[in-house]
Amino acid sequence: MSLKACLFDMDGVIVDSTRHHFAAWKQLAEELSIPFEERDNHALKGLSRVDSLEHLLALGNMPLDEKTKLKLMRKKNQLYLELIDNMRAIDVLPGASELIRALNKAGVKIGLGSSSKNAQLLLENLGLSNHFEVVVDGNHITLSKPDPEVFLKGAQALGVLPAECMVFEDAASGVKAAKAGGFFAVGLGDPVELEGADKVLPGLQDVQVATLQGWMEGA
Ligand code: BG6
Ligand code: MG
Repeated sequence: MSLKACLFDMDGVIVDSTRHHFAAWKQLAEELSIPFEERDNHALKGLSRVDSLEHLLALGNMPLDEKTKLKLMRKKNQLYLELIDNMRAIDVLPGASELIRALNKAGVKIGLGSSSKNAQLLLENLGLSNHFEVVVDGNHITLSKPDPEVFLKGAQALGVLPAECMVFEDAASGVKAAKAGGFFAVGLGDPVELEGADKVLPGLQDVQVATLQGWMEGA
């Protein structure tokens, strides 16, 4: 199968915003007296805001009413927005800009597939939005990763089949979503955490389009 398109996750793939999501959840957790450490945050990667809150509350065994949950989610988002406000092109993770530009040049279509409702804003702050033909984010989906909805919508909007499309993901939930949708999944990070991915790389640095095309043709 030839490589026609690539779908990129945002947080932890294009930009290191995972630490800002963590810092915002951590502040909330402290206020609620729920123990929450960086290792707990791994399970939150790729999940929607509401699913992340539910996970956090489950950790603290703290069921809350809907109104309080909405208030907490608004607060978390305010904290997060303050943290990403100053993010610019310099914060793009190593290799991401170069790969995106090389894919554009090679005629491979590019889309974003993120659970975050702030993905479009962040993409603009980073000066990358012009490179993306399609952006599917938390505002466009009803089911968050590990459901494949975000990637299936991305592929459909790009006019390609999942089998012609590669997904780049740093989260276990995202790799599961990609595989459930029938995509070639490239995991970025720890091979144990990202078990199930077709390939796992440490990051996007020095990734060549020809290498990706070779993987796809061999798949
Ligand atoms: C994902 C992040 O991309 O977006 C999660 O990995 C985050 O950590 C989720 O919770 C939702 O983000 P937001 O910006 O809509 O709260
Ligand atoms: Mg991610």
